[in-house]
Formats: sequence, C-alpha cells, structure tokens
Amino acid sequence: VARRTTTAGTDYASYLLIDDLLDLQRPLTPGAPDEMLFIVMHQAYELWFKLLLWELTRARDELLGGRAHGAVAPLARVHRVEELLLAQLGVMETMSPDGFMQFRDPLAPASGFQSLQFREIEALSGRLDPTHLTSAVLGSEQRERLRARLAEPTLWNAFCACARSAGLDMPEGDASAAHAARLQALVTLYRTHGADATLSTLHHVAEQLVDHDEAIGRWRFHHGLLAAREIGTRHGTGGSMGVGYLRTTVDTRFFPELWEVRTAL
Ligand code: HEM
Repeated sequence: VARRTTTAGTDYASYLLIDDLLDLQRPLTPGAPDEMLFIVMHQAYELWFKLLLWELTRARDELLGGRAHGAVAPLARVHRVEELLLAQLGVMETMSPDGFMQFRDPLAPASGFQSLQFREIEALSGRLDPTHLTSAVLGSEQRERLRARLAEPTLWNAFCACARSAGLDMPEGDASAAHAARLQALVTLYRTHGADATLSTLHHVAEQLVDHDEAIGRWRFHHGLLAAREIGTRHGTGGSMGVGYLRTTVDTRFFPELWEVRTAL
C-alpha cells in the first residue's frame, strides 16, 4: 500500500492566528495598569460565550431530534465552562476600585450590557427580556441577530419535544392547562426516572439544564457583588442604575418549571 505523502500542514501560530489574537488588546488610557486585565477578561468571556452557544445549540439540536443521550456530552461541557466563568470573576476582583477609576470613564458607554452573545445565550436558553429587542443598547444589526435567535426553538422547546417523543405529555404553550400538564409530566419523570433507560437519560438532561440555569444565576449574583465592590452605587457605564439594576436580574430562571417540579414532588 502506497503511503500517503503528508503535506507540510500548519503550525501553532498559523493555525490559531496567535499574532492576530494578541494584537486585539488595546488599552485606551496610558498608565492605567489594570486596563489590560479588564480587556483580556472580557475577551476571554466572549470566547467562552462563543463555545457555550456552540454547545447549547448542539444540545438543543440533539433534543429536537429526540436524542436525549446526544445532549449529555455538550451539556456537561457547558457546565464545566460555566464553572470556569464563575471562577474567572475572582481574577477581576483582584482589581481595586481606584485601579478601575483610572481607566473607566473613557470606555463608557461600553458595558457587558452590550454583549450580544450573552443575550443570545439567554434567548437560546428560553428567557430573554424583550426590551433588548427594541432598546438602543444593541445596534440594529445586533438586534436583527437576536431576533433571528428568538425565532429558533429554545432549549426548553427542544427538551419538551424530546420528552414528548419519549411518551410524556408535554404540550407547548402558555395556557394554564398546558402548564399543568407539563408539571404533571415532570412529576412523573422525576418520580419514575429509575424505571427505564429513556426516562433516566431524560431526567439526567433535565438536571443538566438545572445546572446551566443555576450556574448563570450564580454568575448574575456574583457579578452583581463584583460590580458593587468596583463601583459602589454609581450608575453602570452602560447607563443602567448599576448594582440596583443587576439585582433585578438575579432571580431570572431559564426553566422555571424545572424548579417548580421540586415543590410538586
Ligand atoms: C469592573 C468590573 C465590572 C463591573 C464594575 C461591571 C458592572 C456592570 C454593570 C453596572 C452592569 C449593568 C449595565 C450597565 O449599566 O453597565 C453590567 C452588566 C453586565 N456585565 Fe458587567 N461589570 C464588570 C465586569 C464584567 C465582566 C468581566 C463581564 C464578562 C463578560 C461582564 C458582563 C456583563 C454582562 C453580560 C452584563 C449584562 C447583565 C444583564 O443585563 O443581565 N461584566 N456590568
């Protein structure tokens, strides 16, 4: 058998575009040593957000195809990345408030408030505050991309579809009868998941969705504390009330029925 001749391939810097990547950190304020951290932190977050969207989309598509087992690996990765994102906040907290004040004003109105990928994660997961579609915080192209995301099935839609294909009564819709039917089906799932392999996998995925929901909730809470220690009660660079606004987001849940089922068991 003739051996295939290998071509030269690539190298680390070319494959990963390292020169481009390392050229993207451009502090605005000379002599503010913490600005490099601030930029690298946000860029690292956006890269992980990109992977989260990738894996959440894979999980969603597996569920839509009725393959609960196919969602397990991407959701496990999502969970590990989110643990990393939480730990990353501790790196940001090594910056003291005076260090932040040295470079904060010139970067306004830039803020995580304008992170399109964060909003896409919320939309894909199933809970986006609709005001983001109309407010001028995002640009018109970004709002268009968000609208396209909202037109896609959410993770929750996909989970319900997968549960239906496994024989559970999980109707769509906001009507109270549909809600009651879903809750009853979830009670059945949570009480009988040990009985067979399909229910067991579906239950595992439901708990992984709760992991995702809880991780983002913990991130919201911890990020609010980070903001409080950096800026006190100042307004945010994005123009919101600051910490007061962030507090209103802490109880957002992507999958409220997966929390509700606990009380009904
Ligand atoms: C010095 C550090 C930080 C401070 C003081 C801070 C502060 C704030 C404040 C006050 C808001 C509310 C919107 C506004 O008016 O700006 C906000 C929103 C946000 N920030 Fe940060 N932040 C910091 C670091 C980060 C980092 C490292 C990330 C990572 C991507 C991040 C992501 C976000 C996101 C996604 C929102 C929108 C939250 C929502 O609307 O639910 N922030 N931040």
